[in-house]
Amino acid sequence: MGKKIFSGVQPTGNLHLGNYLGAIKNFVSLNNDENNKCVFCVVDLHAITVKQDPTELRNNIRETVATFLASGIDPKKSIIFNQSKVPAHSEAAWILSCVARMGWLNRMTQFKEKAGKDKEKASIGLYSYPVLMAADILLYDSTHVPVGDDQKQHLELCRDIAQKFNNEFNVENFFVVPEPLIQKELSRIMSLKDGMKKMSKSESSDLSRINLTDDKDQIINKVRKAKTDPLPMPGDIKDLDNRPEAKNLLGIYSNLTDSDIEKTLSEYSGKNFAEFKDNLSQVLIEKIYPISIEIKKLLNDTNYLDTILSEGFEKADQIATKKIKKIHKILGF
Ligand code: TYM
Repeated sequence: MGKKIFSGVQPTGNLHLGNYLGAIKNFVSLNNDENNKCVFCVVDLHAITVKQDPTELRNNIRETVATFLASGIDPKKSIIFNQSKVPAHSEAAWILSCVARMGWLNRMTQFKEKAGKDKEKASIGLYSYPVLMAADILLYDSTHVPVGDDQKQHLELCRDIAQKFNNEFNVENFFVVPEPLIQKELSRIMSLKDGMKKMSKSESSDLSRINLTDDKDQIINKVRKAKTDPLPMPGDIKDLDNRPEAKNLLGIYSNLTDSDIEKTLSEYSGKNFAEFKDNLSQVLIEKIYPISIEIKKLLNDTNYLDTILSEGFEKADQIATKKIKKIHKILGF
């Protein structure tokens, strides 16, 4: 049976290799399966949980759409829209925030990381962000949610909210309890500067990530400067346990060459990193650089990007409004 897919990406700029390998690449293969119904959302309401410059946000919304298209998502097969245009998202988020419990949200590690030491100064939106994410998913009766490993806890919360609502109002299966789709290997791409930290758009050093808009020279330079260790490549995957940077680079290479780490190791075992890094740059240029060119091309045609969003809005709004009407009935509004 086909799956109902939903996923979202924040339009906060600097979409990177982690977003691509952890999520967007997966969106593309799900989009290519005729049996699936896919909805891909530019989550601009999530973006404003931290301060955004309005002009930059507007550009970043378009850039996120351009990235979806450049990566191979077909807007004829999938719905692409931005969250803020469909009012049901904000409304469902409020309703579900009356179902979710403080104790559940207090456990969210991403809030703790993002709020840092001064959590009194974090926005309430940053705290309740996973409830909005649950609203996104549940409005579309989504069965499967492709995400990177960092979103796993938020999905568990979404499942808890769905189940609590269904039980509390005695509406069995009203909200579909979604399954996460998280890749087994490489669900967490790490920073090029620190193999213990995930690759992130908020990391201050641009050298820590390959952006999907990087040009050839930037890719080569970043790979050359990527942190490694002085040992040669091991022959056995177990020897990578204490070598997070090597493991990360080998994982990236293996994923992009549709191979696995064991095979890559057999190719490079005993060699030093210089040769491997040259080949990694070549593979990145082959697979990622064309996306970068296409994003830039698409960004010149803002009318086209805006049309994709408005066509996506029509379809998304219809589905979400229908669901919210049913929610009103259940609640007694
Ligand atoms: P966001 O915008 O931070 O990231 C978008 C997607 O990229 C994945 N990702 C990574 N995967 C592997 N390695 C990394 N270093 C890495 N960095 C990011 C994320 O896991 C994500 O899948 N809350 C979500 C957006 C969202 C959403 C939703 C997702 C809003 N509503 C509903 C699914 C369903 C977020 O902030 O993702």
